[in-house]
Amino acid sequence: MSNSFQNIPGTFDILPSAQSSAADTVASTPAWQHVERTIRQVMQRHGVHEIRTPILEPTALIARGIGQLTDIVSKEMFAFERGDTHYVLRPEVTAPVMRAYLQHHLAQLGGVQRLYYIGPCFRAERPQKGRYRQFHQFGTEYIGADDARADAETILLAVDIYRELGLTDFTVRLNSLGTAATRPAYKAALQDYFRPLADQLSETSRERLESNPLRILDTKNEAERKLLEGAPVMLDHIDADSAAHYSEVKKHLAAAGLAFEEDPFLVRGLDYYTRTAFEIDSPVLGAQSTLAGGGRYDLLASEIGSKQEVPAVGFAAGMERLFLALQAAEIELPGAARPDVFVVTLGDRAASYAFPLLRAWRQAGLSAVYDLKGRSMKAQMREANRQAARRVVILGDAELDAGTAQLKHMDTGEQQSIALNDLPRVLTENAFSPKT
Ligand code: HAM
Repeated sequence: MSNSFQNIPGTFDILPSAQSSAADTVASTPAWQHVERTIRQVMQRHGVHEIRTPILEPTALIARGIGQLTDIVSKEMFAFERGDTHYVLRPEVTAPVMRAYLQHHLAQLGGVQRLYYIGPCFRAERPQKGRYRQFHQFGTEYIGADDARADAETILLAVDIYRELGLTDFTVRLNSLGTAATRPAYKAALQDYFRPLADQLSETSRERLESNPLRILDTKNEAERKLLEGAPVMLDHIDADSAAHYSEVKKHLAAAGLAFEEDPFLVRGLDYYTRTAFEIDSPVLGAQSTLAGGGRYDLLASEIGSKQEVPAVGFAAGMERLFLALQAAEIELPGAARPDVFVVTLGDRAASYAFPLLRAWRQAGLSAVYDLKGRSMKAQMREANRQAARRVVILGDAELDAGTAQLKHMDTGEQQSIALNDLPRVLTENAFSPKT
């Protein structure tokens, strides 16, 4: 038996720098940190606060919240039991956030709770590019909000994050799904339309025709997409209030100057949606082209046990797909931060002398690093270069005897001899000057 382990397919490691041996790492840690920082900044500008909920949730919350018949619940849950408790690794964060909102009575705070999250989710899907078993979502939930401005604002929030990161090539698609009360009539209309065409449908769609005909609208199958051309559209079946709400959403988006497409066949893979539904697609992502999806879910709270209806709207977006889109657009993301100083030591005496020095510099706020392997000067210089250190301090016996060190400015190649006593001042002064 081999004793070398690999990560599970559909998961990936996030490494401090890009490695050719790890083509599936998606992006390096500094790139993730940069994107996460940007998300946090844009959220903050919108008055949206971070919420962190557990990775483990009760299976029943997810099953009831998302819907038993959805692919996520029926096929893709990582679920298990211990004793009498049924656990699931969360496949999404909307139901957990609503659970937390209800559990902690956040409604009592008054107003609308604007919440956001960034974190891992789990779905047992067939892994491929842009589709993983452990992936990461960032998203927002506006809970307690009926107003169509909330729908528009969540869409614009996603758009603003993409734009802030430099991504401009994407499409926003929009639809209204009406309410639970209007859904049965539309389902029936779809069934009436598709039943005579059943022999032209795929096996999956034939199954969906009886159980969940809305999902046929989601088909990627070309022949089925042709059949959709004559199908009844949802917007003709929604109630007057939903239609008015939808017009308001569109009005606010137009006022914000956002171009969007209305897609009468846009449905979502989760059952909790009412009224607004939207997706943001990237043309460069191939089969997994959806960067983000969301909408209004006014019935989720009641579905998971609330006595009152709690209107809410939100979106979630895949981090990995965002990285793929950024890479395709050749948007450069930052690499590892450059150390302020790398200390090269020659011999034990210098190494011992440098150790407390490095600690003092770090306490003064410098990023100060050195080689822990006691390698040759050449190897240490190579390492300093690899890490793109701004300065190198070279310390050997001769320098210590003379009470000096060599200071090399790596960007200019300039080198000077400097008194050991003077080093802290020179380094800190330089380090806090504007960085090149
Ligand atoms: P969703 O459409 O299931 O919606 O997922 C949102 C986004 O997560 C997708 O558009 C995609 O970018 C990413 N994603 C989903 N599954 C995978 C996967 N297996 N691998 C990589 N990325 C994936 C939701 O999860 C809803 N909770 C969105 C929402 C929030 N609705 C209202 N509020």
